[in-house]
Amino acid sequence: MKKVVLALAAVAGLAATGAQAQGYPTRPITMIVPFAAGGPTDVVARIVTDNMSRTLGQQIVIENVAGAGGTTGITRAAQSQPDGYTIMMGHMGTHGAAPALYPNLKYDPTKDFAPIGLAAGTPIVIVAKKDFPANDLKGFLDYLTKNADKVNMAHAGVGSVSHSTGIFFNSVVKAKPTMVAYRGTGPALNDLMANTVDFMTDQIVNVAPQIQGGNIKAFAIATPERSPVLPNVPTTKEAGLEGYEVSAWNAVFAPKGTPPDVVKKLSDALMKSLDDENTKKRLSELGGVIPSNTERTPEALQKLVESEVARWTPVLKAAGATAE
Ligand code: MLT
Repeated sequence: MKKVVLALAAVAGLAATGAQAQGYPTRPITMIVPFAAGGPTDVVARIVTDNMSRTLGQQIVIENVAGAGGTTGITRAAQSQPDGYTIMMGHMGTHGAAPALYPNLKYDPTKDFAPIGLAAGTPIVIVAKKDFPANDLKGFLDYLTKNADKVNMAHAGVGSVSHSTGIFFNSVVKAKPTMVAYRGTGPALNDLMANTVDFMTDQIVNVAPQIQGGNIKAFAIATPERSPVLPNVPTTKEAGLEGYEVSAWNAVFAPKGTPPDVVKKLSDALMKSLDDENTKKRLSELGGVIPSNTERTPEALQKLVESEVARWTPVLKAAGATAE
């Protein structure tokens, strides 16, 4: 008798999940962005969810929950109801670097999520305040290595993209500037433009407009090729720096346990958004890289997360980086 009841409950549960996915979504969806509004992760989230909302027929509302290099917002999202109504925009930091820097991290990037798909590749650019006393990477490195105690570096909190790529940069050029934490590189960029902080390694989608506007300096982009939106910014290799090539990425996740049908609807909507001309135009104009079809699948994202955790852990440990 007990077996029959359990079987019926299981069937009922499956039916409910199926029914839930069928009607999904029936109300607005919240996307948690774990950094301050206006920064790169927020910009990518607002661009891709615009078209996703239209496809899903419900608004995706962005909620900025900043703190601890993005791990505060991601922890909250990971622990939310796995019903498809709370999703998140994670990235190379929250789902790659964070485990190496937070011994008591409250989530496992490789286990506690239902990957939805990659949203955008975001190459890293080495940028500085307009008044920085150097005009190219060589001059910058010369000044930095001789005056590291006088130079400060902005970042979006331990484990963020700007922090982990910054730590990696400092270990490659053997400099130890003072690290200044912000709730995102949106606010950090404001201080860079105000000449109150010296430099940072940030995602192109945040800094490209200010570089084009001449409001900040860009010494190099950390990719094998120049970006089409910053044709005058050399690659690190062209500028004479070996061993510093790094690109970040932003991706959509749902909490583990989100029904597979719901995950599929969200993934299809993201893929459709990335095929949309307006979405592609808005991301590309900021230097964002549109993922290929094979890179966009939930399975590909799961593999990316696993490889990034494996890549960043030794890099950050070797650089002596620890959680503050
Ligand atoms: C942001 O949106 O502020 C960034 O993604 C922060 C970072 O990880 O550097």
